[in-house]
Amino acid sequence: MASKQELEQIVDATDIVSLVSEYVKLERQGKNYKGLCPFHNEDTPSFVVNQEKKIAHCFGCGGGGDPIKFLMQIENIEFKDAVNRLAERAGIKISGYAINSKPNPLTKYYQIMQQAQAFYKKYLENTDKGVEAINYLYKRGLDDETIKMFGVGLSPNEHNFLYQVLKESNILELDMSDLALIDKNEKGYYDLFTKRIMFPICNESGNVIGFSGRIFNSDDKNQPKYVNSRETILFKKKDVLFNLNLAKGDILKKKRVILHEGQMDVIASYRSGLKEAVCTLGTALSIEQANILRKYTNHAVICYDGDKAGINASLKAIKVFQNAGFIVHLVLLPNGSDPDEYVLNNGIDAYKNYFESHMIDANTYIFEQAILNKNLNDETIVDSVKSEIFGMIYSANSKTTEESFLAKLSEKLKVSYQAISNDFQSYCNTHQRPKRVEKYDDYENDYETLEKPINKSKLDFRYETRLFMYAKSSRDKALYIDKLLLNKMDALSNDSRNLWIKLINDYYEHYEEFNETLFISMLDANCFAYYATITETLKKDKAPYNDSDLNCCIEHLNSTIYDRHNEKLNADFRKTDSEIEQSNIVSLRFENKNKKDKLLINRRK
Ligand code: UTP
Ligand code: MN
Repeated sequence: MASKQELEQIVDATDIVSLVSEYVKLERQGKNYKGLCPFHNEDTPSFVVNQEKKIAHCFGCGGGGDPIKFLMQIENIEFKDAVNRLAERAGIKISGYAINSKPNPLTKYYQIMQQAQAFYKKYLENTDKGVEAINYLYKRGLDDETIKMFGVGLSPNEHNFLYQVLKESNILELDMSDLALIDKNEKGYYDLFTKRIMFPICNESGNVIGFSGRIFNSDDKNQPKYVNSRETILFKKKDVLFNLNLAKGDILKKKRVILHEGQMDVIASYRSGLKEAVCTLGTALSIEQANILRKYTNHAVICYDGDKAGINASLKAIKVFQNAGFIVHLVLLPNGSDPDEYVLNNGIDAYKNYFESHMIDANTYIFEQAILNKNLNDETIVDSVKSEIFGMIYSANSKTTEESFLAKLSEKLKVSYQAISNDFQSYCNTHQRPKRVEKYDDYENDYETLEKPINKSKLDFRYETRLFMYAKSSRDKALYIDKLLLNKMDALSNDSRNLWIKLINDYYEHYEEFNETLFISMLDANCFAYYATITETLKKDKAPYNDSDLNCCIEHLNSTIYDRHNEKLNADFRKTDSEIEQSNIVSLRFENKNKKDKLLINRRK
């Protein structure tokens, strides 16, 4: 296995100019080399190679990268093959391939969440209070094995039991609050989950990243039925799918994924032998979630609640799945029931039979719903029916689907296929097909840790880079942003700050309009490398590029300032042994956190 060091050694030993020259005719231009991009067709060279920084980057198409990435792309090979080829080329012997030797900074947080889950579980299994909760779960059809399988627990009906347990094992309040387990008010620390049945929520690899807690005592009827962890460093709702960690093997085996509305439905499916089921956490299916599932399968079966709300949510989820390249089916349950109710009333076998024999093609469903009870003699109604069905065909993005549904429609409307087909063409010309989201790229993750600025979240990076996009569009805009950035420079990474200063103080000082070649020629190797990285990122960015997005970027920097302040406080905390100082720091930290929360809430308004 090649270590991180070996990897660096290989890259170090590679002369990128001679490597690229094997494929591209390069000419020296100032500090850089330039040539015609091998990744797209062009007449004027925009492929730039920087020898010192070992980067080859196309400012036209965003192709290229470090020697490894360049070789991967040009030879269309995998990361480890590119590493091996470069090692051979440089005459370096490597033990194999592995680059994840860096300790994961999230490990600490996973361990705390794991401890919290173990505590909730023990509290359910070993206390008198637990008996009542377990009886509730039995009543809902769960047996001991299922309760164990899903790691179900119970949060105590106490002010801060979990807090005290975690405190015993020297876990910092800061970490507990960052993980949304506790909070603080005038009276002190308190648990965020109390008197709820606790369903742990895991990431794809099975680490606990959050909880969903359900009331079970009839006294609590006026409380929200479920409370989920708020967003934390680990828990990002739009990326999480409940049960994916357990289901992923079954999804591969069955070549399909079932999407439900709630955890209890997933558990009911699981009990019926449909183990390939997942659900979101009270939110609509996001494109991110669809893309995560797309790594495992391209077939989705949506089985939401059978009521009106469930049907509407299904229609939305169909679109999201289709945009991610899925074939979609629906199962509609009778009498508005959800899978968990169906199982409770009819048993697991009946549910499984119903499920397998009532799967309908999502496109057919949309088609039928669109014409159901419609007066097809009324022209305005026909227009709206057509545009609904055209929308469906458009999203499906398949020639077969297109032909068969246009044929069906021409039959229903009693007009020629040609006429309908023409109408569909003009619909296509006036509508934009939602962008297919790129396939998940394993190497991207490795690349991130190698080259992108460390200690910055992807999001920070994205917001920061967008500012450059706006600044490049005009000098006025750049100067306007520069004004807004006053007092916020600390929130930028060092690289961004240096590049920004170059852009405003050196470039726009002399030139009215942005010219990439001119700008690049002013950059030193570090700035050049960073600029190459951000232009590559921007190529993939799907930002709307309008004023409100720009404001959003600036506001994000505001919240980053609080994060920076927090990091400093954390460091101070670890440096001191004085309890008084520690307690002062904790108070400051909570103050800071409240300010940031307020900022986020205001932004949402
Ligand atoms: P439902 O209201 O459909 O609940 O919410 P359910 O799945 O039938 O739950 P049971 O059977 O009564 O226990 C579906 C999902 O929406 C989220 C939860 O994730 C739930 O599983 N939800 C619901 C919340 O986040 N908060 C709520 O107050 C209610
Ligand atoms: Mn239910």
